[in-house]
Amino acid sequence: MKILVIGGHGTIGKQVVKTLMEKAEIIIGGRTQGDIVVDMADSTSIQNMFEEMGAVDAVVCIAGEAKWGNFEDLTEEDYYVGLKSKLMGQVNMVRIGQQYMKEGGSFTLTTGILADDPVVRTASAAMVNGGIHSFVKAASLELKNGHRLNVVAAGMVEDAYEKYKDYFPGHNPIPMNKVVNGYIRSIFGKGNGEIIRIYD
Ligand SMILES: NC(=O)c1ccc[n+]([C@@H]2O[C@H](COP(=O)([O-])OP(=O)(O)OC[C@H]3O[C@@H](n4cnc5c(N)ncnc54)[C@H](OP(=O)(O)O)[C@@H]3O)[C@@H](O)[C@H]2O)c1
Repeated sequence: MKILVIGGHGTIGKQVVKTLMEKAEIIIGGRTQGDIVVDMADSTSIQNMFEEMGAVDAVVCIAGEAKWGNFEDLTEEDYYVGLKSKLMGQVNMVRIGQQYMKEGGSFTLTTGILADDPVVRTASAAMVNGGIHSFVKAASLELKNGHRLNVVAAGMVEDAYEKYKDYFPGHNPIPMNKVVNGYIRSIFGKGNGEIIRIYD
């Protein structure tokens, strides 16, 4: 089994890769490092990546950025960061990737708790997460060749606690093994169109 993990060197990605490596051949995609370099904010780069790599059994995206900032300060351009990277980057991963996905393969995207339980400074980031949830529910209805599409939405993960704790007062850091299991469930289970929420 061949699995592409975009963001496989990131905080969440590296833990997911560690577990997946016991089960499959892993190709790590990243913007600055990895087996294959890709900028998910650029659809030509995504197309080139799939062309170079060929068919896969699963695509897991644990990457994508959005701009955080006070609502009164966020500019139109600031919103486009999240729209181009985290939202359209993941949409394009599925839209383009379906041509390279083997029969019965799966896509797993990543959002986060902000879609349902936003905190201040996240008007853009929360909006993008919510958009991805709706995309997953709708696009999963139309996938062909037995393909599946799910999204893992985690709360603030324990490995990022120091970085994010001031933004998420009172939130419980999510144990990494629970987050990793969300990806395992999406890839190796049979669910389709699921929003796999891991909020506590
Ligand atoms: N940390 C949390 O508590 C948490 C909770 C829920 C959801 N999330 C979401 O989960 C995702 C990963 O979070 P993380 O904390 O693991 O982030 P991270 O440590 O910053 O890692 C992000 C990874 O994504 C890659 N990446 C970023 N932009 C990219 C692009 N345009 N094209 C290709 N690769 C790109 C990075 O590669 P380079 O280093 O090479 O740029 C890096 O490997 C994010 O979308 C985040 O919003 C995070």
